[in-house]
Amino acid sequence: MSSSVFFLSALWACGENAIPARLTDIEERTGDAYNGEYIFQLNCQICHGQNENNTLPLDGSIEKMEYANILLNGRGQMPQFRDVLTNQQIVDVIEYIRDKF
Ligand code: HEC
Repeated sequence: MSSSVFFLSALWACGENAIPARLTDIEERTGDAYNGEYIFQLNCQICHGQNENNTLPLDGSIEKMEYANILLNGRGQMPQFRDVLTNQQIVDVIEYIRDKF
């Protein structure tokens, strides 16, 4: 009995965190650029900041779901943020990037 309860909750947790489900959820959410600025300063600025030399410029014209994909999965030398940011934090930071860059 207790093992099947464990199995079910493990399945639930897995479905909840699966990337396709997260992408669908992200697509439906609306971002808040004001919150996104704070998330950006904490998580992104160290590599993508504008005020120091040797930081990576960001392209603000990428489509929303392409950003979501980069943030969840990482890209090249960029780390993934799937275990760091919530879906709402991801749409907020995307909104900020699209406004600012
Ligand atoms: C450890 C450094 C690092 C951090 C932290 C980081 N990035 Fe990146 N990012 C990179 C690198 C390196 C690339 C280039 C990846 C490639 O294409 O090889 C990149 C690429 C990108 C791209 C796609 C290229 C472009 O021009 O737009 C986006 C969008 C992006 N990062 C957004 C973010 C956001 C948002 C955060 C914070 C949640 C973040 N990054 C945090 C290093 C970082």
